Amino acid sequence: MINNDTVYNILILADSFDRNEIIQRNENYKFIVVKNYTEITEALEKNDISLAILDMELEGFNFTGIIEELTEKRLLNNCLVLVLSTIENPKLLKNILKSGAADFLKKPFINDEFILKIELLIKKLLDKKLIEEQKKEIENTLKKFKALLDSSINAMYIFKDNICIECNKEASLLLGFNSKEEIIDKHIFNIFHNVSTKHKNLLVDNEVDHNFQTKVTGQQGNVYEVQIKERNIPFDTDNLKIISAMDITDIKRNEKILAQKSKLASMGEMIGNIAHQWRQPLTAISIAASGIKLMQECDIEDKIETIDSLDNIVKNTKFLSATIEDFQNFLRNDRESSTFFIQDVLRSTLMILDANLKFENIKIVQNYEEDIEITTIQNDLVQILLNIINNAVDAFKDKTIKDKFLFIDVYQKKDIVYISLLDSAGGISEAVIDKIFEPYFTTKHQAQGTGLGLYMTHQILSKLDGKIEVNNESYTYEKKENRGAKFTITLPVF
Ligand SMILES: Nc1ncnc2c1ncn2[C@@H]1O[C@H](COP(=O)(O)OP(=O)(O)OP(=O)(O)O)[C@@H](O)[C@H]1O
Ligand SMILES: [Mg+2]
Repeated sequence: MINNDTVYNILILADSFDRNEIIQRNENYKFIVVKNYTEITEALEKNDISLAILDMELEGFNFTGIIEELTEKRLLNNCLVLVLSTIENPKLLKNILKSGAADFLKKPFINDEFILKIELLIKKLLDKKLIEEQKKEIENTLKKFKALLDSSINAMYIFKDNICIECNKEASLLLGFNSKEEIIDKHIFNIFHNVSTKHKNLLVDNEVDHNFQTKVTGQQGNVYEVQIKERNIPFDTDNLKIISAMDITDIKRNEKILAQKSKLASMGEMIGNIAHQWRQPLTAISIAASGIKLMQECDIEDKIETIDSLDNIVKNTKFLSATIEDFQNFLRNDRESSTFFIQDVLRSTLMILDANLKFENIKIVQNYEEDIEITTIQNDLVQILLNIINNAVDAFKDKTIKDKFLFIDVYQKKDIVYISLLDSAGGISEAVIDKIFEPYFTTKHQAQGTGLGLYMTHQILSKLDGKIEVNNESYTYEKKENRGAKFTITLPVF
């Protein structure tokens, strides 16, 4: 039963038809009776007709032709055709059905039969409309999806069983293909050429999603650095894989330049630190040497005094050569991972900074849970610590703060090591705190800061699978209120 309040328009071309009884019995239908072809077309053009009932035994009508013509004029797009027939001419009936009629009703019939047929056909029409709407919706979604795919600035590829089934324009441009069509139907390894075996395995892994950077050879033989994001999506019965790729060759090149600049900047800071370290021992050496010279000039022979002075010179030169060694260690570009105690690295980093920290009157308060061993690139960790501690030293220089502290805490939770460095230099202005990891962001004078220290710290840490976070903290220490910036580094133990 059609159980809604919609009234359906039904066109009817028939001789013997008891309209009144049907209308009385069913208010869901409005019958429009027509007598000739012109009236049929007019009725179809003016009204939204759901069903056209044609009595094929009526004289003077070529029904096959009429249905074909109406279909051609698109007047039967939202309408079904029911023919009434005695089936005395089955061949003609067959032709009429072939030309586009939906069904037939054998004459003579009783009204109940007629109404039932109408109902069934209206239901069929509604189902047809629903299917068409759904089809349109699917087509629209597909169109939107393709538009989205094409508008993406990233190269996008969709794979089924490692064969590309769809991609966008960017996808062909990225690797130097001439068109999308050159990529579709290709195996993933014939698109991403010369990828390392490790990354090949990630590309075809259907279990886990991956994000990684890799080198790919393009169609013209150039090598690109690309950032790959790969997602596995179950779709119907298929497992699809969507890969988005972005050319980061330029970014990588800039990163290298920035790393070199940052290294130069921190070397500058190192030289500043060395100057601090050397000032005092050089003065001591100079005083001792001058003392010996004076004794010689005045012919004073004090063997003990001379030996004392010479000892002093030897002690201080040893210290000088030790600082050179620290400096050399820092400069050595040792990219090897090794296993070491974090506390040892902190100790040697603080040694490099010792004179400077003393000069600025900064007290280091260390709190290490226990000896924590970590496997990572030691030099990188030294650079990170130097960047953060030097920033704290700079922050103190800017202000007149009486109690200058730097709290260093090292602790471990599960497989993660935490190193937190909290100063008492007043903290970082909330207006800039979100920007301090950006390259070239500095609040210092050009001569004092390049703004690369924390950017590089962040970059190095992400390469080591670590993280860095910052916040301002107010706290009480030795009954005094302090406020400062707290940097927390996290690193995996392995
Ligand atoms: N402990 C801190 N207290 C207050 N401000 C800080 C602290 N550490 C960093 N900052 C702020 O963050 C900014 C960025 O630091 P970053 O180390 O990246 O660059 P920089 O120190 O200015 O220059 P450089 O490249 O020489 O290190 C600093 O200019 C400073 O304003
Ligand atoms: Mg800095």
